[in-house]
Amino acid sequence: MADKKILVINGPNLNLLSVREPGIYGNQTLETINQNLESYGKGLGLRCTFFQSNCEGEIIDAIHSVLREYDGCILNAGAYTHYSYAILDAIKAIGKPVIEVHLSNIHAREEFRHTSVIAPACVGSIAGFGKNSYFLALSAMKDVLNG
Ligand code: DQA
Repeated sequence: MADKKILVINGPNLNLLSVREPGIYGNQTLETINQNLESYGKGLGLRCTFFQSNCEGEIIDAIHSVLREYDGCILNAGAYTHYSYAILDAIKAIGKPVIEVHLSNIHAREEFRHTSVIAPACVGSIAGFGKNSYFLALSAMKDVLNG
């Protein structure tokens, strides 16, 4: 079977991984995580492409690109998770599987992080496993796509 195409999107401030609050988000750079994710995906038959932006509209455009160019999407929307109805609507609009990811356990942190407004449009959410959250999401995506 041909490899499925997955877009991995990271939102605001995730470009600063390794520098940003390492006690919460870990010591690895986003580039390192993405390189390892790419190899892991190959073993699962999933071809990953990576996108990061600090801008809501660019994230929405990337989600729209999933409609025609990808089979699924893994999304860490950063703080937009908690209030972006525009990202919620974009996920609903594409009708392709999106898995929500967080490095930290958003439910064990400040109250404003307990709500994910995008969760209802996602097939599922993985939070709290550090960088492993991305790998767990990719593994789950394989099952979602292969039924
Ligand atoms: C995050 C959690 C969000 O609350 C935060 O704003 C982030 C990162 C995570 O991966 O744990 O930027 O999405």
